[in-house]
Amino acid sequence: MSATEPTRPAARRVLRVLVLNGPNLNLLGTREPAIYGRETLDEINAGIAASAAELDVMVTFFQSNHEGALIDRLHARDFDAAIVNAAGLTHTSVSLRDALLAVERPFVEVHLSDPSTREPFRRVNFLEDIAAARFVGLHARGYTLALEELARRWAAGLIPAHAGDAEASNG
Ligand code: DQA
Repeated sequence: MSATEPTRPAARRVLRVLVLNGPNLNLLGTREPAIYGRETLDEINAGIAASAAELDVMVTFFQSNHEGALIDRLHARDFDAAIVNAAGLTHTSVSLRDALLAVERPFVEVHLSDPSTREPFRRVNFLEDIAAARFVGLHARGYTLALEELARRWAAGLIPAHAGDAEASNG
């Protein structure tokens, strides 16, 4: 490089997003389609992956029907930000809330339906006040909007880049 060539700031590495889906979301496609639509989780994830490729974001997908498995996945801390549809655990889980706070990664809360317009027990929400943003009632589009929101924040330098590997483990 010549002395007169303008210097560019070092390129930031790509944003790593964990897409975390909770109980019963593996049944999307056949599960109460009038509420959740006909798209399967694999189809939704394929749409997210396509958006991620366009946005130059690295996405990892994880779904579990088990609260502890979701919490363990968060504890790996191998991501910079998350998209979380905690499903029914949204309305019940202090432990999942605690895990999201403990790992110190921003997350966007997503729901296919709008829980606030459904049964009263779905108005209890342990995650909404700690989410960086929320997209509810937009079906699969909510996930891609969440990804776009995180990519926007990353580009603006609003999301810290974390070390590549788990920062803490008890192993
Ligand atoms: C959901 C809404 C929750 O109330 C429900 O328990 C789910 C799915 C949604 O995506 O609309 O399992 O998170």
